[in-house]
Amino acid sequence: MRAALLKRAARDAMDYLEEVDARSVAPSAKAVAALAALRGPLPPGSTSAETVLHLLHEYGSPATVANGGGRYFGFVNGGCLPAAMAAGWLVSAWDQNAAFLVQSPTAIVLEEVALEWVRELLGLPAGTGGAVVTGATMANFSALAAARHTLLKRTGWDAEADGLFGAPPITVVVGEEVHPSLLKALGLLGLGRKRVVRVPVDGQGRMRADALPHMDAQTILCLQAGNVNTGAFDPAAAICPAARAAGAWIHVDGAFGLWAAASPEYSKYTRGFEQADSWATDGHKWPNIGYDCGIALVREPEMLKTAMSVRAPYLETGGPREPSDYNPELSRRARGVELWAGLRSLGRQGMASIVERTSSHARRFAAGLKAAGFQILNDVVINQVLVSFGSPEKTLRTIARLQAEGTCWCGSTVWQGQTAMRISVSSWATGKEDVERSLAAMLAAARE
Ligand SMILES: Cc1ncc(COP(=O)(O)O)c(C=O)c1O
Repeated sequence: MRAALLKRAARDAMDYLEEVDARSVAPSAKAVAALAALRGPLPPGSTSAETVLHLLHEYGSPATVANGGGRYFGFVNGGCLPAAMAAGWLVSAWDQNAAFLVQSPTAIVLEEVALEWVRELLGLPAGTGGAVVTGATMANFSALAAARHTLLKRTGWDAEADGLFGAPPITVVVGEEVHPSLLKALGLLGLGRKRVVRVPVDGQGRMRADALPHMDAQTILCLQAGNVNTGAFDPAAAICPAARAAGAWIHVDGAFGLWAAASPEYSKYTRGFEQADSWATDGHKWPNIGYDCGIALVREPEMLKTAMSVRAPYLETGGPREPSDYNPELSRRARGVELWAGLRSLGRQGMASIVERTSSHARRFAAGLKAAGFQILNDVVINQVLVSFGSPEKTLRTIARLQAEGTCWCGSTVWQGQTAMRISVSSWATGKEDVERSLAAMLAAARE
C-alpha cells in the first residue's frame, strides 16, 4: 500500500513539475478560492492516505506559486536542483532525526561534509565550522549567539547561564540598510532590534567605511554581503582590518551574496569578508538547494558549541561532531543531506555557473528595460535589478499587471525613497528564453 502511494506521489510531483513552466506563475484567483476544500474541522474518523494525497494534488498544486519554473523573480527565491529535490524525497523516506550521530550516521556525515564544502566555496578560513539551519534568519541568530557568548565571556559573564539582566553592555553596529531578519535575530538574542548603532550607507546601500563608530572588544560589527534590493556588498576589505584590530566580533549576513565567492569572475565582491568571525548564508537562495536550508559558520566553532549545546543523561553524545551541539534545535530534519546532494551535483564550476548565469540574466533585464526608457535604480553587480517605471503609482500598476498576466512574477520595494520593481534572478532553471519572454511581458505591462 505504501509503495503504491509513494509511486502516486512521485507521479503527481512529476506532473506538477512538467506543467509548472507552462502555467501562470501566480496561481489563479479560482485556484486560490478552491483551497476552501482543504479547510473545515478535523474529521472525527480517519481518511485514506490516497484521498489525502488526492486532495493535496487536486487543490494544493494549482494554488502554489510556480517558483519551480524559470520565471519567478520575487524576493530572493532560488529553485530546487534536481539532485537536491530527489535527495529530499529520500530524506523523507529515511525520516532521520539529525541531532546526534547515534541517531543517523548518514545524516551527520553528509552534513559535516557539506559544511566543509560550503566553507571552501565561500573561501573561509580552515577550521571554520557551524550548523545547517532553516534559513539565513536562524543562521544570523545562531552565529550571533556565538558572538554574544564570546564577548560576554571576555568580561567574565556567562550569557547562557545567567541571561542578560545585569550583563555588561554589548554594542551592535549595523549598516543603515541592514536586513530586517538580522534585527529580528538581535531581538531574539536579547540584544535588541533598536539598540543598534546604524552606520550611514551610500546610494547602493553599502556601509560607509569612513563613517564607522568607535569599536572595541565589546562590539559586534554586522556587515552585509549582498543587499536584498541592490545586491551591493559592504566594503569588507576596507572595514575589517580596523575592526579586527579593535577586537570587535565581525559578523557577515551573506544570505545570497556570499556565494559570489564561488565564481572567479564575481569573487572580487566578497574580498575581505573572510576576515570575519562568523557568517550566515542560505542554501535555498543562490545554490538552489530547495526549502529550507540555511548555514551558520563560525571561525571558532567552539564558541557556537558553548552557546548551543545541551546535555542530559538520555542524550547519547560522543561523536566527533554532534549537530545538536551547534544548532538551536534538538530534533531536526536531515537537511544537510539535500545540501550535500545539491552541491555534489553542481561541483565548484556548477555553483560558479549559477552565479554567473543569473547575474548575466540580471544585466540583460537591466539593459532591456533601460533601452525602453525605464530607470534602473541600482548598479547591477550581481543578480538583483531595481527598476522604476515612472511615478510610484505607475510602477505599482505595472507590477500588479505583470503579476496578474502570469508570464513571470516580480515584487515591489521602496529603495531609498523610490518605489521600484525588484527582479531577483536566483533560479538555476532560468534560461535566456525565460528572460526574453519575461522582459517582453514587463514592457507590455508598462505600456498598457
Ligand atoms: C541579506 C539577507 N539576510 C537575511 C535574509 C533572510 O533569509 P531567510 O528568509 O532565509 O531567513 C535575506 C532574505 O532575503 C537576505 O536577503
